[in-house]
Amino acid sequence: MGVQFRQARRYFARIATSIFGTVGAGVLGFDPALLRGIAQRVGTPAYVYSANLIRAQYHALHDALKDVPHRICYSVKANGNIGVLKVLKSLGAGADIVSVGELRRALAAGFDADSIVFSGVGKTAPELEEAIRAGVGFLNVESPAELDALIAVARRIKKLARVGIRVNPDVATETHPYTKTGEKTAKFGVPYDEVVAVAQRIAAEPLFALRGLAMHLGSQITDVEPYHRGTVKLLELVAALRASGIATIEALDVGGGLGVRYHNEKAPTARAFADAVAPPIQQAGLALLCEPGRYLVANAGVLLTKVLYRKHAGGKEFVVVDAGMTDFVRPSHYNAHHEIVPLQDGGRPEELVNIVGPICESGDFLALDRKLPAVEPGEYLAVLGTGAYGFVMSSTYNQRPRPPEILVEGDRYYVARQRETLDDLLRGEVIEPTTWYQGGGGGSGGA
Ligand code: LLP
Repeated sequence: MGVQFRQARRYFARIATSIFGTVGAGVLGFDPALLRGIAQRVGTPAYVYSANLIRAQYHALHDALKDVPHRICYSVKANGNIGVLKVLKSLGAGADIVSVGELRRALAAGFDADSIVFSGVGKTAPELEEAIRAGVGFLNVESPAELDALIAVARRIKKLARVGIRVNPDVATETHPYTKTGEKTAKFGVPYDEVVAVAQRIAAEPLFALRGLAMHLGSQITDVEPYHRGTVKLLELVAALRASGIATIEALDVGGGLGVRYHNEKAPTARAFADAVAPPIQQAGLALLCEPGRYLVANAGVLLTKVLYRKHAGGKEFVVVDAGMTDFVRPSHYNAHHEIVPLQDGGRPEELVNIVGPICESGDFLALDRKLPAVEPGEYLAVLGTGAYGFVMSSTYNQRPRPPEILVEGDRYYVARQRETLDDLLRGEVIEPTTWYQGGGGGSGGA
């Protein structure tokens, strides 16, 4: 290995260790030489995930919860790559989903339907039907109106539905306004004071088994206290239900949202989270479910990108790279900070740069006013902490094919999802129309 790689490895390890804690980056699969090899073989931009880092996170949480019967239902929306799902399934995880697209993905990866939690404020009748037929373990009702739809579907197909209620616990959290979900003004969950009435309607329905109460407070939560408050509020509801004769609740689902360290945040430990939620649930004799996404995968992923050009304009230094907001939207959308490291570092001085993509939007950046060793065109950079809400939020804006996803197992890797092609982007598009419809009378839609 050349001097360049030794230095790059040290630099990478320093940044990565500041995020991953004591876990050595190279040991678990993010070696700069390996990442560079991947970039050369599959091209850039490309997402790379480390199976071992995912396993380490899962084990930390699973161990912390060992005193209470529990299941970790991985939130598929954070990263739905089938390779990633299979790693988590093999560890014993269940899945948390928000659409039938995610249901099919979870089933394709081998998850048992019974271990799947399905939440979401806008589940359609066909989605409810598919979920019931598949045997989803917890179909979480989010409103009285949705319950009407669920009752209608279950009666029509005469199948048993295993139901939960997603409660809006009205618990505030300190996180980005776009990712708060547990306050009473949010669109999510059944309002707290309507839960008993909704539960009574469910209990009265012979085709329904009411199995759980759930909450989800928000995402990237760095304080565990709201989890404790929410858990206590949910347990008060369980007591009220028991008092009204409903004693079928088996599990309390405390949701996802556990924060991670991207930069200098204080992320809660798995133990602190467990201490906040597990004891009262255990005391009530219930099983604990949780739905972490980001916690399991965020820091197990990097996005590889190549420097295209250097540019100096208006007193700013720009590093133009081949990944943009279409590949990774978190910096633009949430102003999120993600560490960026060069994969080769000849001990160069640092400079202040804007790292920007090729998209025609001024909001297209990966980092602004960031200190970075002076990088040259042709070099590769790794954007860290991109394993969650990375690829899944990518788009094809500006007609850009979405990047590939690579899964690393030790020192080996495979392309878990191919790079999209320009032909893929034209699929389904009509170039010469042959079928024309007359306006009006378009069937039952919109009635
Ligand atoms: N359960 C439910 C019902 C959810 O809505 C979510 C995330 C999760 C679990 C998993 O949350 P996590 O543990 O990953 O925080 N795009 C945003 C995050 C949106 C989260 C949406 N719901 C971001 O990039 O920060």
